[in-house]
Order: sequence, then C-alpha cells, then structure tokens
Amino acid sequence: MVIILDGKKCSEKRLELLKEEIKNSGLNPRLATVIVGSDPASKMYVRMKHRACEQVGIGSVGIELPEDSATDKVLKAVMQLNQDPDINGILVQLPLPKEVDAECVIERISPEKDVDGYHPENLGLLFSGRPRFTSCTPTGIMTLLKEYKIPLAGARAVVVGRSIDVGRPMAALLLNADATVTICHSKTKALAEELKRADILISAIGKAHFIQPEMVKPGAVVIDVGINQLDGKLVGDVDYAKVSEIASAITPVPGGVGPMTIATLMENTFRAAKVKACNRA
Ligand SMILES: NC(=O)c1ccc[n+]([C@@H]2O[C@H](COP(=O)([O-])OP(=O)(O)OC[C@H]3O[C@@H](n4cnc5c(N)ncnc54)[C@H](OP(=O)(O)O)[C@@H]3O)[C@@H](O)[C@H]2O)c1
Repeated sequence: MVIILDGKKCSEKRLELLKEEIKNSGLNPRLATVIVGSDPASKMYVRMKHRACEQVGIGSVGIELPEDSATDKVLKAVMQLNQDPDINGILVQLPLPKEVDAECVIERISPEKDVDGYHPENLGLLFSGRPRFTSCTPTGIMTLLKEYKIPLAGARAVVVGRSIDVGRPMAALLLNADATVTICHSKTKALAEELKRADILISAIGKAHFIQPEMVKPGAVVIDVGINQLDGKLVGDVDYAKVSEIASAITPVPGGVGPMTIATLMENTFRAAKVKACNRA
C-alpha cells in the first residue's frame, strides 16, 4: 500500500510550531516580497506567502512594480529593502518579465536576507556542504522526507531538472544527506533507464504526467515538484494514479511539495531574524 507524503498536513504542523516559536522569541520577523507585473499565478503565490506570514506572526510588506519596469528600478527596490533594518527576508517572485535581468536582481539581494536561497553565495555554501539559506522547495522536500523517515544515506536519488530554484539545490541537499545523486535534464540520454534506477525519484520538469510507471522502479519514493494544468486541473509531472500503484511513497499534486515550500519560506524568514538578533547581541 503506497504511503501518501502529505505535505499539507506536515506543513500545517510546522507552521503551528513556528507560530509558537515566534511568539516566544520576542522577535518581530518581517518578509518583503517584490513582484513585477501582474502574472496571475505569480500574484496568487505571493498572496499565499503573505497569508502564511499572517498565520505565523511574521510581518510582511509587498512591493508591486509595473510589468515594464527596467532592471534598474527593480534593483533600486531590492537595495532599499537590503538597507531597511526592519526587513529580515526578501523574496523576488520569479519569473521576472524577460526585459528584467533576473540574475542581476538575485545577486543584488543581501545574502543575509536571501530567504529563497538563490544568491550565488548561498548556493555556493550549500554546494560546499555548509548551507545557510537553502531554496524553499527542495528544503521543504527534505523536511517531508525526514517527517516520513525515508532513509537517504546510500539511497540512489535521481533528480530530473537542473534549475537553480529546484533541481540543483535539491541534488546538493540530497548529496549532503549522503544519497548517491544523479541529475537529469532535457539532454540526458536514456532518461527512462536513469529514472528506473532511482530509490528516490524527484521530478521538477514542468510537464504534465511526463513520469509514467514504466520509468519508475517498483518500491521507489516519488516526489513530484511539477505544477501543470491539464484539462483545467492542476496536476504534477507524475501520472499519480498509475505511479502510485508501484511506488512505496508519493507526493500528491496539489497538497504535496507546494505547502512545504511556503512553510520553509516562513522558517527561513524567522531564521534570518534570529541570526540578525544573535549578531546584534
Ligand atoms: N511545488 C512548488 O512549490 C514548486 C516550486 C518551484 C517550481 N515548481 C514547479 O516545478 C516545475 C519545475 O520548475 P523549475 O523552476 O525547476 O523549471 P525550469 O527552470 O523550467 O526547469 C525545468 C527543468 O526540467 C528539464 N526538462 C525539461 N524537459 C525535460 C525532459 N523532457 N526530460 C528531462 N528533463 C527535462 C529542463 O532541462 P534543461 O535544463 O536541459 O532545459 C530543466 O532543467 C514547474 O512545473 C514549476 O511550476 C513547483
């Protein structure tokens, strides 16, 4: 019988604990979000993040810039937030409009406020095995795997996708947890053969129902990061109904990885506030 890795339940538990911890800390953590343009999905994600802040007692401020903002304008907003002593975490909602230099914007976020973990300094620390802030989605997945006591040391993990927000940090976190890691991408040859070897299969592609049961080792743990629309419904990269018949554990979409991402963002923001308070003391 397959185990459903319930990200919604796990995230709610973590948010409740975090709320208590924040209340007892005497700190006033604050997150700033920056959104450029009016993409409905991005706006919805930002709203969900602000709602989670409210739920746990993190203050939040939202900066909204018009779609035609130049890179300089976005940089200016980020630099103001860097200098604001009341802001602990800065999140620039991606993707940015293509006229905006996203790499330049990410690199300008103060690494101490980079609660998304995309800054090269934070990615470098993660890859050197000394993580500081790590990307929320893969970190949330690690929390979920821990919650369900999935053994990682020595496990063969295959990550499909090599983005800086999911695939690469996911691979580094699994490596830091002693898994044997393979990263696959669109140029990988014999992808199905690579996937079939995975004890832990993590898909971050963005293609509905791409992962079919014949690509999955019986008994594998399957983590579905993908968020896709199919026939007006939200589905993952994994054909959930078919793959859950052979996997030992699987995340649903929705209700799997997504809620863990938001809970991790809250945890990272509180951690930024704690680090700042320690450095001041
Ligand atoms: N649940 C959450 O909280 C959450 C958070 C972030 C993202 N997501 C979702 O996760 C998915 C991936 O996000 P992302 O930001 O990592 O996307 P991305 O930047 O577009 O990266 C997609 C990756 O998939 C690879 N890929 C594409 N087609 C492939 C194929 N046929 N075979 C093998 N690899 C293939 C690409 O390879 P190349 O590098 O070779 O192009 C790329 O590395 C999206 O659906 C996104 O919406 C969910």
